[in-house]
Amino acid sequence: MNVFIPPSKHLFALFNQQTDLVLPGDKSLSHRAALFSALAQGKSRISNFLDSGVTQVMLTALEKLGVKWHLDGTVLTVEGKGLDGFTSPTLPLYCGHSATTIRLMAGAMAACGIQVTLDGSDGLRKRPMQRIVEPLQMMGVEIQASPEGTAPLVIQKRNQGIKLKGGTIHLQQASAQVKTCVLLAGLAAGQDLTIIEPGPSRDHSERLLRAMGVPLFVDRLSVTMQPITQPLLPLNIRLPGDMSAAAFLIVATLITPDSELHLEGVGLNPRRTGLLDVLKKMGAKIEMEITGEIAGEPIGSIRVISSALTGTTVAGDEVVRMIDEFPVFAVAAAYAQGETVVRDALELRYKESDRIQELCQQLSAIGVQIQEQPDGFVIRGTGKVPGGSGHSRGDHRLAMSLAVAGLASENGVTVEGADMVTQSFPCFFEMLKEMGVTL
Ligand code: S3P
Repeated sequence: MNVFIPPSKHLFALFNQQTDLVLPGDKSLSHRAALFSALAQGKSRISNFLDSGVTQVMLTALEKLGVKWHLDGTVLTVEGKGLDGFTSPTLPLYCGHSATTIRLMAGAMAACGIQVTLDGSDGLRKRPMQRIVEPLQMMGVEIQASPEGTAPLVIQKRNQGIKLKGGTIHLQQASAQVKTCVLLAGLAAGQDLTIIEPGPSRDHSERLLRAMGVPLFVDRLSVTMQPITQPLLPLNIRLPGDMSAAAFLIVATLITPDSELHLEGVGLNPRRTGLLDVLKKMGAKIEMEITGEIAGEPIGSIRVISSALTGTTVAGDEVVRMIDEFPVFAVAAAYAQGETVVRDALELRYKESDRIQELCQQLSAIGVQIQEQPDGFVIRGTGKVPGGSGHSRGDHRLAMSLAVAGLASENGVTVEGADMVTQSFPCFFEMLKEMGVTL
């Protein structure tokens, strides 16, 4: 599917429950809430669940494992089976394009002790899995990846009564998927398990597991989990709006003349708000207010108005706190005046696409002056983007970023392969229309 985004003006929207314009639930939390509820004992109710391509993959995998769930609109109910209630499926579990599903599922299945094969799309089969295989093996899990260190992953059954090992595990990457995989396996550990990561990856699993009664302690970049003595408690929560979905609407508002956006009920976990901090450094008029908490997650409102931006440098921990936001951040940088440098961002090469290479190719195609670097990119911002055609290359965030780029461009942007948005933000184009874009 191709979608043409015309140059636009005067975008405006107020997102809250009263206006019926609601930001979709957080993707990371939707995955976790569904899977952790399945591991709990009892019935969970999760509202504002994100119904999208990647979360459907998680739900289907749970169904194949015999988990009973029901999705009514955005309200998900799950009947937890408890860690001991799972039996080995006869067929491989298919994880589609979803790295979160395969990595979290590997840790969860290791905790359940069943035999299972986890596989996915050709795209998923290219993504690195050795990063979860090694720590799981250190804990005593019998798990094997392909010779290239990729899916399919085969996990062997563990004998009843045998616990996994605890100890200290140093992660090589600041990755919440890897950390969560290891934490989930740790639910079957017989000793304390400490995970130390090199940077502040999102900590949703720590917060949610604690809310479900798991004895877990965090000290900066280290998480320690004690052996559990009771089943995980079921959840009854409303998920916060997805900061990573909000990011597209925020940048759209900043770069489009005379525009204004109010978002309420957004997840404002500090490990997810790196983009807001960086945009503010660039001169963005963004106000953020924390108004409450859900299962240990801060939520609140964001107000944004069109702003003149200047170039900046992003490196180190800032990169980790906005890891999913670089495609749309690059668009903001293209509309800024001056040079923007992104470094220490090698992890972007292992996402839904090689996001450094694809971003450079697709943004160049619409006239952005962007140069690829081994661990990032450099953009020469001129405040203007001519427009043209760009392709999603199978990456949902690239599709939405190209669309955002079109809004303030001189001639508009055609997004090829635009249907990828269904993976994480199915109502993205509807929301742009609600903001006043003519599609
Ligand atoms: C996610 C963690 C991040 C992020 C992904 C979702 C999660 O991946 O890019 O979209 O839900 O844990 P990494 O853990 O590989 O950095």
